[in-house]
Amino acid sequence: MEVASPVMIKNLLEGKVAIITGGASGIGEATARLFAIEGARMVVIADIQDELGKSVASSIGAHHCTYVHCDVSDENQVKSMVESTVQNYGHLDIMFSNAGITKPNQTLLELDLSLMDHLFAINVRGMAACVKYAGRAMVEGAKGGSIVCTASVSGKIGIDAGLQDYVMSKSAVVGLVRTACCELGKYGIRVNCVSPGAVATPLMMETFGIKSKESAEEAFSCDNSLIGTVLKVNHVADAVLFLASDQSAFVTGHDLVVDGGMLCRAGSNKFLYKH
Ligand SMILES: NC(=O)c1ccc[n+]([C@@H]2O[C@H](COP(=O)([O-])OP(=O)(O)OC[C@H]3O[C@@H](n4cnc5c(N)ncnc54)[C@H](O)[C@@H]3O)[C@@H](O)[C@H]2O)c1
Repeated sequence: MEVASPVMIKNLLEGKVAIITGGASGIGEATARLFAIEGARMVVIADIQDELGKSVASSIGAHHCTYVHCDVSDENQVKSMVESTVQNYGHLDIMFSNAGITKPNQTLLELDLSLMDHLFAINVRGMAACVKYAGRAMVEGAKGGSIVCTASVSGKIGIDAGLQDYVMSKSAVVGLVRTACCELGKYGIRVNCVSPGAVATPLMMETFGIKSKESAEEAFSCDNSLIGTVLKVNHVADAVLFLASDQSAFVTGHDLVVDGGMLCRAGSNKFLYKH
């Protein structure tokens, strides 16, 4: 796991309490590590991969990170995970609602609606539950807060890659963020999202059946405008840190695309949009 260079540390999250869903792996894990480096008082990793989540939390350090089992598709689990965070650490400053799935790949003509319901239960309902209960905790805490969701570049244009329900779910995340920002703004709560391009995480490698991280990065990077660069989980974590911290104090309802210019040259993409 690549971590930020120590010279870059600015303690941007000093004293903050954060929840990261899907924090056991990939983008969520990188963000949990960065939040701890940037001075967060406590980072709560909420995931369903218990062994992995516990090992990530213990490698960050028990004083700054803990693991809680939480399936975001179960509203009661989200409610109790947020409530226990407030009970244990006094308040909630940051919610990074990031957990998501892609599988199984589905085309429109073969769309299995019950599988789509399962994906939506995590990617859309789960996201909404996290925003709802984080919003409630932040309103009750009366100190404002920052909510960041993970959308995707795939929610912005069509993809002929058998990701019909995933693409729809990521468009819904942007709608959730825009509407929640209007409702929660009066409480000083900001709501934004990040939209990453393709990053070599377990989710993405499994989606495209790519075995090694190196092959995935090579395949994904050919679509970037920043030729010769590779999108890493740390690039996304940096964007989340910006949105979570006071550095973005006047930014709300924003969808921060982190794709190395992939969307700008979508017409000439070689991999993602022609896979
Ligand atoms: N990797 C990419 O290229 C990419 C691009 C755009 C958006 N995203 C989004 O980024 C987010 C993180 O994905 P990632 O790429 O880091 O993949 P990942 O597989 O490394 O991490 C996803 C995490 O979410 C957890 N999770 C899955 N279902 C859950 C549930 N019901 N409750 C709680 N946790 C659950 C998994 O256990 C896993 O730890 C997802 O929302 C994904 O859609 C990824």
